Amino acid sequence: MMTAIETPFEAFLNQHDEEGWLAAVTTLLRSIHEVDKTATQIWFSFYPFGLFTALQQAADPEKLARELLLQGDYYLKNQIDSSHKFIYGHRYWAQVKKSVEQYVEKWNGLQSVPNVAQAQAPDTSLADHILEVAQIVARELKLNPSLLVGITAVAFMTVRQTGLEAFTASPGKVLIDDKHARKSPNQILSARAKDDSQGWLGFLKTVDKKWTVNHDENDDSANYKLNNAQDLAWGAEADRSRDWRAMDPRRVEGPIPVECRSASCGTCWVGVIGGAEKLSDVAAREGKQIKKFGYIDTTEPKPLIRLACQAQAHGAVSIVIPPWNGVFGKYKRPNADR
Ligand code: FES
Repeated sequence: MMTAIETPFEAFLNQHDEEGWLAAVTTLLRSIHEVDKTATQIWFSFYPFGLFTALQQAADPEKLARELLLQGDYYLKNQIDSSHKFIYGHRYWAQVKKSVEQYVEKWNGLQSVPNVAQAQAPDTSLADHILEVAQIVARELKLNPSLLVGITAVAFMTVRQTGLEAFTASPGKVLIDDKHARKSPNQILSARAKDDSQGWLGFLKTVDKKWTVNHDENDDSANYKLNNAQDLAWGAEADRSRDWRAMDPRRVEGPIPVECRSASCGTCWVGVIGGAEKLSDVAAREGKQIKKFGYIDTTEPKPLIRLACQAQAHGAVSIVIPPWNGVFGKYKRPNADR
């Protein structure tokens, strides 16, 4: 098989390890609109650089995937246009993708001029490049750049994980319908903040409160109800509205993939895009296991990545379901003990 030649831009991206990408995303967070701050961080958790690197460097990636118990679609190269559908900036994907391609083409051209390359390379950080492209698209679309920074960061990481050739070859399709694409950031933020009405005298209810869990903000029917203090996976089990298994074989009982229901397998991880504060605190077992699975490493009591079988809801929540699961915590850091 022919291997594509690495362009100067790809070489620049390749200089950044997991820490470098993390630092860039952390720097960019203050420039990302509230509607995409959490979503962008969830995306970077769903497509972890450490796992990508481990698979890329493995002599036998399929064997490694078996060892790491990977299930579902864990390769970003299969999801270039779709992986970020839950990010608000996805509606501008066609323009962002095109601008990244034009920026890279120009950048690669300049790098072939020795004096320009020398003058440019040392001072421009990864975060600066991402901001620059977001600003170009913002000017073109007459939008606030904060709506484009998250999706542009996603585009850069997608180039890193898939290669420029595959990125360019992807059609650049926007995969949400017009009705949802027209929603403003404020409409989405207020929908996330809203709780279910418990009816007349609902404030007196204690045990029989019901909450809505949304698992796709771009699909009005992607909701299920659960009782107060039920875990997210428990509520999902009763949702028979679609043939979930046909959509994803991991979805054996409702929209959320589950196996053990006891924090042992890692199948049920989700990103919490809205309402994280309405979930129970991470208990000791969930905290230990989620780190072992490699999904998140934090001591925050209500983080943006949770195990659905452990997180109990005390209000309406909006979640995102990743397309894969596995156990790869030891591969998160390049020098981790294997
Ligand atoms: S279903 Fe196994 S960890 Fe939640």
